[in-house]
Amino acid sequence: MAQTSLTNQSKMAAFTQGLPTGLINLHSSHPAALNQQQLTDIVHLDAPAFIEALSLDYAPVIGSSDIRQAIVDAHYSDTHADDILTTCGAQEAIFITMQAVLQKGDQVVCLTPIFEPLYQQAKMIGADIHTVPLLSDQAWAIDWPALKQAVNHHTRMLIINFPHNPTGSHINQDELNQLLELCRQHDCWLLSDEVFRGLEHQSNQRLPAAVDCYDKAISIAVMSKAYGMPGIRLGWIACRQHEMRKRMINVKRHLSICGSRLDEVAASQLIPLSDKIFTHHRKQLNQNRQLLANSLAHLPHLQCHLPQAGATCFVQIWSKHSISQSDSGEDFARQLALDKGILVLPDVCFLTDVSGFRLSIGHTDTAEFYNQLHTN
Ligand SMILES: Cc1ncc(COP(=O)(O)O)c(C=O)c1O
Repeated sequence: MAQTSLTNQSKMAAFTQGLPTGLINLHSSHPAALNQQQLTDIVHLDAPAFIEALSLDYAPVIGSSDIRQAIVDAHYSDTHADDILTTCGAQEAIFITMQAVLQKGDQVVCLTPIFEPLYQQAKMIGADIHTVPLLSDQAWAIDWPALKQAVNHHTRMLIINFPHNPTGSHINQDELNQLLELCRQHDCWLLSDEVFRGLEHQSNQRLPAAVDCYDKAISIAVMSKAYGMPGIRLGWIACRQHEMRKRMINVKRHLSICGSRLDEVAASQLIPLSDKIFTHHRKQLNQNRQLLANSLAHLPHLQCHLPQAGATCFVQIWSKHSISQSDSGEDFARQLALDKGILVLPDVCFLTDVSGFRLSIGHTDTAEFYNQLHTN
């Protein structure tokens, strides 16, 4: 199988490059970032305290003990501060994990559609990747027979991402148990990208972190998605296997070396307030979800399994004939950008052949554009 290289362009970059600038962003995957006033009103945060606690020295490679303790207190039940490695965003966390766990020729299984780096970074190493499509006609449910056939005793890693980007689908406890059992049975690593954990549209849909359930599970999370704070470039890897963590730390030394102290200080004050922050986002997501449902009711060629979690959904383009000269998500999204100045990301960016595009439900001021999701 052909390898990609670090200098290869992502599908997302390739798609957006040819488009005009200044498009209305209706694609991104995080809830709207809190502004200063909301920080004060919602989380009662004392902003000057960020600065008072700041050291200008390098941070520890694994992250300061304060930030790692704040992370485990808020996110995990059976994982300790020493099991955490902070990273520069979840993107670095994915890169480090792939480099530490995989070697050329290793067998990897993942589900599509998929956040592109979860696939590409494994491919870059030369992994042999088996993709199992989620069932687009069954609300993006897992195709269990296909998955159980794909994962076997040669599998090095199963990659999952629930709540799911781009579809906004989620699994329940029983399905999580089945995934864990599959990995246990074949003694393979489970990479669980949990960056949207906390953004379940009903709070009782929240599942335990995979790392708390299985000793070969690696959970990844970040400030940019569930917290909606991508300006704080702090992510982390939770992994309970000491030897694997040592390999990860070695990879990180080739990359950012350590995180920003300013990010660590900001995040260690915000993470203990996660419940308030997630509740704020949940309200906005549920409102937008309803507005989207109302708009799509008037656009019969577009259909969507409404998301259950996260800030995105995947809209399927149903009838080729109702869209002028557009029978693929890519054609449709390009035309939408040119006709309406609206940017959505097409199917090709998520390695799926289901015709459609990813749409955001995270923004505060874009709901009016849902009615404009058609090309001329
Ligand atoms: C599923 C998933 N994982 C990881 C990331 C990377 O997060 P970040 O850009 O904050 O590094 C993203 C970003 O969109 C994502 O959607």
